[in-house]
Amino acid sequence: MARLMTTQLLLLVWVAAWGAQPRTTRARTELLNVCMDAKHHKEKPSPEDKLHEQCSPWKKNSCCSFNTSQEAHKDISYLYGFNWDHCGKMAPACKRHFIQDTCLYECSPNLGPWIQQVDQSWRKERILNVPLCKEDCQRWWEDCQTSFTCKSNWHKGWNWTLGYNQCPVGTACHPFHFYFPTPAALCEEIWSHSYKVSNYSRGSGRCIQMWFDPAQGNPNEEVARFYAEAMSGAEVPRAWPLLLSLVPMLLRLLS
Ligand SMILES: *[C@@H]1O[C@H](CO)[C@@H](O)[C@H](O)[C@H]1NC(C)=O
Ligand SMILES: *[C@@H]1O[C@H](CO)[C@@H](O)[C@H](O)[C@H]1NC(C)=O
Ligand SMILES: *[C@@H]1O[C@H](CO)[C@@H](O)[C@H](O)[C@H]1NC(C)=O
Repeated sequence: MARLMTTQLLLLVWVAAWGAQPRTTRARTELLNVCMDAKHHKEKPSPEDKLHEQCSPWKKNSCCSFNTSQEAHKDISYLYGFNWDHCGKMAPACKRHFIQDTCLYECSPNLGPWIQQVDQSWRKERILNVPLCKEDCQRWWEDCQTSFTCKSNWHKGWNWTLGYNQCPVGTACHPFHFYFPTPAALCEEIWSHSYKVSNYSRGSGRCIQMWFDPAQGNPNEEVARFYAEAMSGAEVPRAWPLLLSLVPMLLRLLS
């Protein structure tokens, strides 16, 4: 009798050990090829052959719809009603970076490793500390030097009474470098640390590119795989507590 139960128990241990395998694997794949649960994202990434202009690099596999890609190029779009020209007209060279930033945010299926849950009325998930390639941040900052703003965090604190953001009372319009003295100040503070400026360069496979040529494929796929691997490698096999809890029972049966 004891022997039969021991056999069953060993079988259970075996099942527990192997049953846990897919779970750890799944935790990793959930970081890859996913869309965040936010305001306009599709549920899952899929091809979109008509994506508009600056969003077109994501055609082959995208979290944004055609409509979202078009809206991403508009001022005070239906996406967020955001007014880039809150301190006079934003220079086109500067605005194209904000459009690209919107395309990356809305369309990229490679931001999984940096998706975090949030308790916000307009979205359930956000991105945090996405390692943006240093050149992409540097160029964004340089091209915006001639534009003006009145705040360093563009997520919070605006006056929305007219349906689009206006500078709140008590703030003043200044050139970008007044609120963003360094490239990192711009890329990290503007969207509450959605980005972290990486020390890695474009093409390194270790930082996310806002800009890329789709003819060479999407370089961010490899980057997401690298960080997903690094993150899941730190995970302890989940079956261990269960296996350890079975040891006393096993010993009791064997004695
Ligand atoms: C996108 O969809 C929204 C909501 O249905 C609509 O208001 C908007 O006009 C559409 N934009 C384009 C460019 O089709
Ligand atoms: C918000 O903007 C409206 C319209 O420009 C203005 O009348 C109001 O005083 C502003 N309120 C605050 C708190 O800034
Ligand atoms: C960043 O990269 C540069 C050049 O590749 C290197 O010299 C420097 O030590 C790095 N800094 C950090 C903080 O890793």
